[in-house]
Amino acid sequence: MPKILVTGGAGYIGSITIHHLMRRGFEVVVVDDLSRGHRENVNPSQLTVARLQDTDAVTKVLAGVDAVVHFAAYIAVGESVRKPELYFSNNVGGTVSLFEAMARAGVNKLVFSSTAAVYGNPERVPIPEDARFDPVSPYGESKAMVEKILESLDRNHSIAGSAFRYVALRYFNACGAEPDAGLGERHEPETHLIPLLFRAAVSGKPIQIFGSDYPTPDGTCTRDYIHVGDLAAAHVAALDHLLAGGASHCFNVGTGKGYTVMEVLRATEQVTGLKVPFEMALRRDGDAAELVADAAKLRSTLAWKPERSDLHAILTDAWNYFQKHPA
Ligand code: UFG
Repeated sequence: MPKILVTGGAGYIGSITIHHLMRRGFEVVVVDDLSRGHRENVNPSQLTVARLQDTDAVTKVLAGVDAVVHFAAYIAVGESVRKPELYFSNNVGGTVSLFEAMARAGVNKLVFSSTAAVYGNPERVPIPEDARFDPVSPYGESKAMVEKILESLDRNHSIAGSAFRYVALRYFNACGAEPDAGLGERHEPETHLIPLLFRAAVSGKPIQIFGSDYPTPDGTCTRDYIHVGDLAAAHVAALDHLLAGGASHCFNVGTGKGYTVMEVLRATEQVTGLKVPFEMALRRDGDAAELVADAAKLRSTLAWKPERSDLHAILTDAWNYFQKHPA
């Protein structure tokens, strides 16, 4: 079976994708600097603790590797506005060093974690892949920059002088958990809606709802929530495509259906059986009113479809995980 390097494998989506890759029989090695991930998410025998900027260390790990799945990045939109230099140095600088290491090791296939944040405030929804890039945060800009570099590497055959091929997956709102593997969402500080709804339900301390005057059915923002297991399956499909000699692509990964914040809150009350206290607050900087994917291209090109992204299924898995791993 092919050997895969997963960068950022100690994080939320990375660790769950490793679980899916291993179930399929891939050999997996991991590079993570553990600055945001959790050591216990990765089997110690697979893990090299290193920064991607350490090109020599990454080159060593790439020996015998057939393809890379690249998650390692900082992801907090608000932090990126306060510390843009950190986001460009880690997300762009780290990735460029990874490309240099891949060139040295002769590895020329990569699946990249991109984001719906590359679109900013979209002109139309659902958002197709050819929508204009107009990121509104340094986080989104850092991902858009890497996509630009990927395009150039593909066009110029520039990894180890041979064809470089990639798949960029633009995630919408990743959520849910992988109960079988004991893996789920755990950021510190937490900024994501679903874990914060659980914290409010359990603590009785109200969650702030950021904005109630958006042009949506109930005035709160609409998002496309995608189960992390479906997201992991999209990575496996992208790898299969590249390993079979497939061409480079960018795909949205979402369901095509949006829910407002209040709809997610009410569904959380149903799944947990608890009241979720909330208070209406001002809009959060950088939030778009509505982000929903047109995911037709991924469905038709890689025969992928969401199978676990029903909102109740997402919340049930996330709640099971949350109860076992309270903050
Ligand atoms: N929200 C609240 N209160 C909170 C937290 C969130 O009202 O305490 C709202 C947000 O305003 C937003 C929705 O819940 O409308 C979802 O917010 P998240 O922070 O969970 O997720 P985002 O939509 O902001 O961002 C996520 C990822 C980004 C990615 C984006 C793409 O974190 O990395 O999805 O859709 F770029």
